[in-house]
Amino acid sequence: MPITVRELESSTADDHIRSQLVTMLEAAKHSEQKRAPHLASLIELGSDALVAGLLSGEAGWLVAQSGDKLLGLVRMALHDHSEIILSGLYVASQSRRKGVGSQLIRAAMKAACYYPANKIAVMVAEQNPAVHFYQALGFTFARRAKFPKYIVMEVQINSGG
Ligand SMILES: CC(C)(COP(=O)(O)OP(=O)(O)OC[C@H]1O[C@@H](n2cnc3c(N)ncnc32)[C@H](O)[C@@H]1OP(=O)(O)O)[C@@H](O)C(=O)NCCC(=O)NCCS
Repeated sequence: MPITVRELESSTADDHIRSQLVTMLEAAKHSEQKRAPHLASLIELGSDALVAGLLSGEAGWLVAQSGDKLLGLVRMALHDHSEIILSGLYVASQSRRKGVGSQLIRAAMKAACYYPANKIAVMVAEQNPAVHFYQALGFTFARRAKFPKYIVMEVQINSGG
């Protein structure tokens, strides 16, 4: 079955996917809390906010599926009218290293061209192997994040918005 990436509909049509996404966001939260126990409560708050936004039908959620099976997700949001911030990127463990994460990020880069933004940014724990994943997609180190042991990585995009 081919992998498809699409933006989640804000209507109720995607409600069945939303409940799977909540489970996946829980898994993402636990893996991040394990990596950064010093930020466990902040990660909890951030995850709660993501789930609340998801359930309220906000736009900007990209999902990767194979048929009805959910493989991964990422959330994109416009910040300061100049950059897209990615959050919640997660690929189900049995679906990793098959290009799912890359497809999600490439779809985000494509969608970002319709926003008034010239770059995409993501905050990542410096020890997370995801740093190599972002590098493979053209992201580079931008600065240290305000949280210890985290960095911000960015990639430039061509905005049409
Ligand atoms: C990071 C993550 C999203 C990558 O998703 P994925 O679908 O496995 O990524 P891809 O298959 O598209 O990988 C593309 C390339 O990125 C690099 N890469 C991906 N995972 C990597 C890892 N664990 N270590 C080193 N390089 C990695 C490789 O160059 C890979 O190409 P290759 O498989 O041909 O060597 C996934 O591992 C994940 O969900 N991790 C847990 C959550 C997380 O850390 N999210 C990021 C929060 S900021």
